[in-house]
Amino acid sequence: MKVDLFPTQIYRYHIDDHQPIKDRIDQHYKEFRVGNEPPDSWNCKLFTTFGTKQFPIVECIDAFSYVFDQFQDEARLPGNLILTDLWLNCYETTNWQDKHIHAPGQWSGIYYGHFDPNEHSGTKFYHPNETLLACQGDEQNTIIPWVNEGDVIIFPAWLEHSAPLNKSSKLRSTISFNFVISDEVYEGGEFDPEKLIVDGGVS
Ligand SMILES: [Fe+2]
Repeated sequence: MKVDLFPTQIYRYHIDDHQPIKDRIDQHYKEFRVGNEPPDSWNCKLFTTFGTKQFPIVECIDAFSYVFDQFQDEARLPGNLILTDLWLNCYETTNWQDKHIHAPGQWSGIYYGHFDPNEHSGTKFYHPNETLLACQGDEQNTIIPWVNEGDVIIFPAWLEHSAPLNKSSKLRSTISFNFVISDEVYEGGEFDPEKLIVDGGVS
């Protein structure tokens, strides 16, 4: 019998009315693409607003609030959700980003602004014990969850991930973000701590 002691979950949601955000990404990218350089510490080739401390596409924050409510309910994480960073990445043909984590951090998310599931790859996640498993002959150490345009995924900030090479002629764009959840009582609804108790576990 196999028992997963420490499984890692990610969460996927969808924003129905995502066209206005996509339009704003187009507008911003067209205006600022020339001369953009990623941080020196990044091993990648892409357009990014990371580190600029500016993010003009505020429309997505309102759109994300629905996602955050769903996430806090599903993950049973009450408290005040505080967005700590938010940035746009655009991947032209042959652009990519090497594996990395979002440290220091608690939770991270990726919104897929321009994304064709028939031509683009989703985000690649790496098993935390990747090297150990590889030494044991297990090479199935990565997972690329299926996503579509307008989707948002949320994952723990410590989980390594990368953006595979964009082999398509179509632009791939994402809005990444980090957030923390404070210990204060979540005002969006009641929280029942008994729901955290796992029934019928293997001891
Ligand atoms: Fe990332």
